[in-house]
Amino acid sequence: MKVAVLGLGYVGTVTAGALAANGHEVCGVDIDAGKVAMIAAGRSPVVEPGLDELVSEAVAKGSLRATTDLSEALAGAELSLVCVGTPSLPQGATDLGSIARAVTAMATSLRTVEGPASGHHALVIRSTVPPGTLQELVDPLVAEQMSSSSLAVGTGVCPEFLREGSAIADFTDAPFTVVGTEDPRVGDTMNRLFRFVDGPVRVVPPPVAEGLKYACNAFHATKVSFVNELGRLFRQLGVDSREVLELFCEDTKLNISSQYLHPGFAFGGSCLPKDLRALLYLGRMNSLDLPLLAGTLATNALSVSEVVNRVLLSNANEVALLGLSFKMNSDDLRESPYVDLAETLIGKGFDLRIYDPIVDPATLIGTNRQYVDAKLPHLRRVLTSNPADALRNADVALVSSSHPSVIAALIADAPNLIIDMNGHLGAPVEALPGYEGVAW
Ligand SMILES: NC(=O)c1ccc[n+]([C@@H]2O[C@H](COP(=O)([O-])OP(=O)(O)OC[C@H]3O[C@@H](n4cnc5c(N)ncnc54)[C@H](O)[C@@H]3O)[C@@H](O)[C@H]2O)c1
Repeated sequence: MKVAVLGLGYVGTVTAGALAANGHEVCGVDIDAGKVAMIAAGRSPVVEPGLDELVSEAVAKGSLRATTDLSEALAGAELSLVCVGTPSLPQGATDLGSIARAVTAMATSLRTVEGPASGHHALVIRSTVPPGTLQELVDPLVAEQMSSSSLAVGTGVCPEFLREGSAIADFTDAPFTVVGTEDPRVGDTMNRLFRFVDGPVRVVPPPVAEGLKYACNAFHATKVSFVNELGRLFRQLGVDSREVLELFCEDTKLNISSQYLHPGFAFGGSCLPKDLRALLYLGRMNSLDLPLLAGTLATNALSVSEVVNRVLLSNANEVALLGLSFKMNSDDLRESPYVDLAETLIGKGFDLRIYDPIVDPATLIGTNRQYVDAKLPHLRRVLTSNPADALRNADVALVSSSHPSVIAALIADAPNLIIDMNGHLGAPVEALPGYEGVAW
């Protein structure tokens, strides 16, 4: 495939070199004539293990060249990959100036250059860009220039996940390639481009691909800070954090797994909040700040207040809370965030009714009973014995239970707003007009 790669920095040079080494005909473009000259001389403009060799071999066999002339690179190309920089502005926003300038220049050039035989060009953003950039910035720029052109230009985003230092292996051995596009021809082009890579090409809506890149980087950064924060504390406590983390990583059921990585409501229960507080206390006793762990409790509280705000904004009077324990199939109400939610809603004057298939006020005993009496003394008054009673005349339903009786009652008598608290309600409820996810 004839491919133009814009921006010959780390991402662009690795992309250009790896594609050229795997059967594609690549022309790199940069506004920096020095970088173009280096590629032309068979050298990589950036330092990366193995990249000099990759570039020199590809240039020698004629599958890679470089130019400062955009039209020369785009002539006959089926695909262009935009790899220009997207640095931070002083206040943290992403500077999309290079993207806007590159895309405008490309669309202008594509209007006049000779197109590929297919009559379709895929313009794909490889740079990291905030969700919405393709649809709100790139598409209008392309549409403005291409309205009177015979060449069809489809757009997409294909974020790069390589790490400097192991970039070539990361590129060719990626777990998957994600393409965000609304144009099936862009998806086809990217599938053909990456045929030499083992991992599958996953075609998704553009904002999902854009968001994924940020999710990955935020997660990786959080992992580093998590272990370092624990390490600071454990060092003070005389605990070998390396040994702890080695064992920690052996648990591929709960720790290194997809567990706890599903968007939903706040965590709770008898252990997680209590043990986080204990660690924070140990930190204070050792004069250590543990902002990540403290922030975890703070952001958990925001999950509750955000739902309260959504109920307030809905102008509801009557609210049904379907599911009260912190997880399905448990009657443990200790530190259930749903209990907090119920208390706050009652405190704000809402007419709240609660149904939970396994929290029966008549049979609550022991610490649960004490907990209910202390934390939610009105529980008996607002608990109903079936979901239909809870839902009668309700303006809003907050639903964490996916018990069949709850699903059936929702479908029979759906309120104007249904907030799904954990994503387990299933397609028939998701199809109801008032359905909303709590965090999606
Ligand atoms: N560096 C990484 O490890 C890495 C990994 C994954 C994703 N990314 C993302 O990829 C993008 C590129 O990162 P990078 O580190 O390769 O950047 P870089 O700064 O090394 O390279 C960007 C290149 O784009 C060129 N350029 C700017 N405007 C241009 C234009 N209009 N036409 C042609 N060339 C132009 C610049 O001269 C420069 O050579 C960023 O969005 C970054 O966040 C980087």
